[in-house]
Amino acid sequence: MSSIPSLSAGVTNGGAKIPAIGFGTSQLGDCTDVVAKALELGYRHIDTAWKYGSEKGVGKGIRLSGVPRKEIFLVTKVSHEYLRAPDFARSVEESLENLQVDYVDMLHVHWPTVDNIPLDETMGALAEAKRKGKTLHIGVANFNIALVEEAMRKCPEPLSTLQAEYHPYLDQSKVLEACRKWGIVFTAYCPLARGRVFNDPVLGEIARSKGKSIAQVALRWIMQQGNIAAIPRSANPKHMAESLQVFDFELTHDEMRRIHGLAKPDGRIANPKGRAPAWD
Ligand SMILES: NC(=O)c1ccc[n+]([C@@H]2O[C@H](COP(=O)([O-])OP(=O)(O)OC[C@H]3O[C@@H](n4cnc5c(N)ncnc54)[C@H](OP(=O)(O)O)[C@@H]3O)[C@@H](O)[C@H]2O)c1
Repeated sequence: MSSIPSLSAGVTNGGAKIPAIGFGTSQLGDCTDVVAKALELGYRHIDTAWKYGSEKGVGKGIRLSGVPRKEIFLVTKVSHEYLRAPDFARSVEESLENLQVDYVDMLHVHWPTVDNIPLDETMGALAEAKRKGKTLHIGVANFNIALVEEAMRKCPEPLSTLQAEYHPYLDQSKVLEACRKWGIVFTAYCPLARGRVFNDPVLGEIARSKGKSIAQVALRWIMQQGNIAAIPRSANPKHMAESLQVFDFELTHDEMRRIHGLAKPDGRIANPKGRAPAWD
């Protein structure tokens, strides 16, 4: 088993090699120092979005770290307000300006449209960003299975990943199976259920028996399913370091099954009214 934190989650049909453990940057405010620390600790996949207001801090953190740009898998997203083609192109330029980079490694549509903007217009704009070299790979976030399939039909370039919520309280088996069928990576956001995992007695018991932390058990459970990257967020260097150390132990079949059993019907966290699609 590898102890390399940036262990690849798989090569997708778009050719993207996505480091399996990434670093989330929502709600971090000016994250310059935190991002520099994450890179120092070994993270090589940084997740941001125009909407988070963290792009400038991410860019500064990358420069402060001294880690060469080409070693970092940098992800950003175009917000749902900007899904018309001209707005989309402007938003991409603004993100690159905020980050002070020439390109990102992955560009996402952050949420599906709420304004009846035709999906082919948005997918055309996403593909155009790739063709112009603004991004190496493209993906969608928060799309349901039907929307991803429609997006794949309408997008002139291949999609490499679907980013969506995933943690022990949310059953995503249908979406995970679909991603395997399509040959794209599933990127799990809120992998620690925004902190809800930490009081869980089942995860606590498994963590104690393994001599690992609850965060490590929750992330290992995700990693062990295969074809999934996860992007935990932390402002605490001890936690940041801990979340990278999930490749030196294994959960048994029974432990995996017990964690799968924690899923509940109301386990979803990110479900904005009027923006979220009908989830699978
Ligand atoms: N595409 C989308 O629509 C979307 C939506 C939501 C999130 N995301 C992305 O996913 C990332 C992660 O999701 P999230 O930020 O909502 O929540 P999360 O990563 O599930 O949970 C973050 C919380 O866990 C704690 N934590 C992290 N690592 C820990 C560890 N090893 N031990 C103990 N506590 C730990 C953090 O506290 P400390 O700071 O104290 O460590 C923080 O309170 C976001 O930052 C963002 O990049 C994307």
